[in-house]
Amino acid sequence: MPLHIVRADITTLSVDAIVNAANESLLGGGGVDGAIHRAAGPELLVECRTLHGCKTGEAKITSGYLLPAKHVIHTVGPIWSGGNDGEENLLRACYRNSLNLAVENGCESVAFPLISSGVYGYPKAAALNVAVSEISGFLFSHDDLLVYIVVFDKRGFEIGQTLQNDVQAYIDQNYVDEHEMLYARSQLLFCAPMPSAPPPMAAQPCMSADTFMDEELVAFNDLDELDDLDDFVLDEGFSEMLLRKIDERGMTDPECYKKANVDRKLFSKIKSNKDYKPSKVTAIAFAIALELSIDETDELLMKAGYALSHSNMFDVIIEYFIKNEKYDIFEINDTLFKYDQVLLG
Ligand code: APR
Repeated sequence: MPLHIVRADITTLSVDAIVNAANESLLGGGGVDGAIHRAAGPELLVECRTLHGCKTGEAKITSGYLLPAKHVIHTVGPIWSGGNDGEENLLRACYRNSLNLAVENGCESVAFPLISSGVYGYPKAAALNVAVSEISGFLFSHDDLLVYIVVFDKRGFEIGQTLQNDVQAYIDQNYVDEHEMLYARSQLLFCAPMPSAPPPMAAQPCMSADTFMDEELVAFNDLDELDDLDDFVLDEGFSEMLLRKIDERGMTDPECYKKANVDRKLFSKIKSNKDYKPSKVTAIAFAIALELSIDETDELLMKAGYALSHSNMFDVIIEYFIKNEKYDIFEINDTLFKYDQVLLG
């Protein structure tokens, strides 16, 4: 996948370039600027002095010195003053100019902090949305570049309060944590034998705990009814269903896999191998990109060998968004991040 959102200290990343959220003097400061200068050593400042500053929205490159990264790209984000002073365009320019500079210098991997979202006061969720949308747009025509957005701290990561209340209410109603699952399982395995069950079955569980937890009991096919395997017609696989849904939605393949933030190579693998089984997160990312209903999502996941489970917080959050037809991947990631879950894309 060309774009990853990770939580780390950017000064520790071994990438071709890390981006510094600097100020116009380029002579260091606090926050990530201070951390980068401390980790790079004094030679970074010596080189920065030769650059004679940097305008807001622009970017300049230096060596990385003692950092694991080869280069540092210094860019200056806008100071937030309410959002009506061109801040978003300047912030977008920071990402675009930094990415262009990275490509011009042969970088194949770049890591960004959330520019302007610290001292400069840009709201973090909005800053993340700008970063993801600007970088994703750039990657449409540079999908060999690997980009990381490094989120340093969860603190202050706001998601809409209404959304937060809705999601929390949904989790409270549906999330069955492991403890409850184990308790339910322990109760089920020693339930009274079914009256019709012959003696050997008496000690068997009357039904599996997992079945008990499913909202609908799955009607098991009685395979004895089938004369032979030829009668057992195989459904379309994950790949076939994915391609069918892309056609039904009137999307092109690139539109779909880029909206799902899945890289071209992985998509080609899935497309060329009808038995290919992607990861659960990738399968869900496609469901979101295709804006599938919960039933279609369940069907697509099942073809990859997965199911949404109420004992999995990630699944419950995904189910909330799909059931409420909220397919904004940034909003979903904000929420997943808030609950310390793996992010989509
Ligand atoms: N790794 C990754 N991200 C970090 C790190 C780190 N080591 N340290 C801080 N951050 C994050 C912050 O949590 C914030 O989300 O970087 C983001 C940007 O915050 P700032 O560093 O405060 O940068 P910014 O908001 O753009 O303000 C720039 O602050 O440090 C001074 O000299 C800098 O004057 C300039 C101003």
